[in-house]
Amino acid sequence: MRSKRPFVIVTRKLPDPIETRMMELFSCRLNLDDIPLSKAELTAAIGQAEVLVPTVTDRIDAELLAAAGPALKLIASFGTGIDHVDLASAQQRGIIVTNTPGVLTEDTADMTMALILAVSRRLAEGERVIRSGAWTGWGPTTMLGHRIWGKRLGIVGMGRIGVALARRAKGFGLSVHYHNRRPVPEDIETALEATYWESLDQMLAHMDIVSVNCPHTPATYHLLSARRLRLLQPRAILVNTARGEVVDEEELTHLLETRAIAGAGLDVFEHEPAIDPRLRALDNVVLLPHMGSSTIEGRIAMGERVIINIKTFADGHRPPDRVLGSML
Ligand code: 8YV
Repeated sequence: MRSKRPFVIVTRKLPDPIETRMMELFSCRLNLDDIPLSKAELTAAIGQAEVLVPTVTDRIDAELLAAAGPALKLIASFGTGIDHVDLASAQQRGIIVTNTPGVLTEDTADMTMALILAVSRRLAEGERVIRSGAWTGWGPTTMLGHRIWGKRLGIVGMGRIGVALARRAKGFGLSVHYHNRRPVPEDIETALEATYWESLDQMLAHMDIVSVNCPHTPATYHLLSARRLRLLQPRAILVNTARGEVVDEEELTHLLETRAIAGAGLDVFEHEPAIDPRLRALDNVVLLPHMGSSTIEGRIAMGERVIINIKTFADGHRPPDRVLGSML
């Protein structure tokens, strides 16, 4: 980096304390209106910045990276998922990419648990009944959901968030099952009383609840393919707080519509922010606007990681959260 006060362009509005600190440390262009940059604006930004701070809503693909100016040395993304950045292209151009791992684990695990409960116990439906004025009073057989205590939860992707979810799930009396590229260390598996399934197909066919907690990479695109989704039991519910692209949403919608599976809780979507109108029409799904990590504490912690990454790099060291394509 040429300067210790690099020129940083931030593409979205970040929490005030983060923006203030960035202004103190760097030469910054902020986005106070929080209107996402158009492709042309993003192209101009990448041509001028020494450091770009994008979010999941910015597509940093090979075409955009081709417009990177000679000054651009670092893309310090605000978020953990890094599937919106073409890592190979960035690497080829000598541009370092960082993310913000670890600081949104607990919030995302909370939201996953909340969705598991919301779908199983029909929380959103119940709320709609009250708000619509249609509630006529308690009934012994009305609004019956399903107990989660004693059910089986299959976690797809046992990284930080998967493990944090498993800890919570155990407290709710769920038995923990998981599929991962490798089993987790034995002490963690023992503490969670977790069962490892090498075969994702086998696990899916035996679970009451399935939660997607793996990153979206070329290897996990449609990991829950149409064929795999059809292995789910009719009683099964699917929860996704990871990335929409991991699940074949077309098939999932079809299975929900035909009640071939019991329900779904979705915080992320394959073509977000576009939502399939057929999903919106279903009462056996709970839909959230990608808010798994939306806590003020989490957002500030993410911003702090972005600052640490930029500052470390500007001071001539290796930023702590560097992401390489080969790590995914
Ligand atoms: C973030 C997320 O809010 O960090 C991630 O991977 O999915 C979100 O929770 C988003 O990425 C911010 O850029």
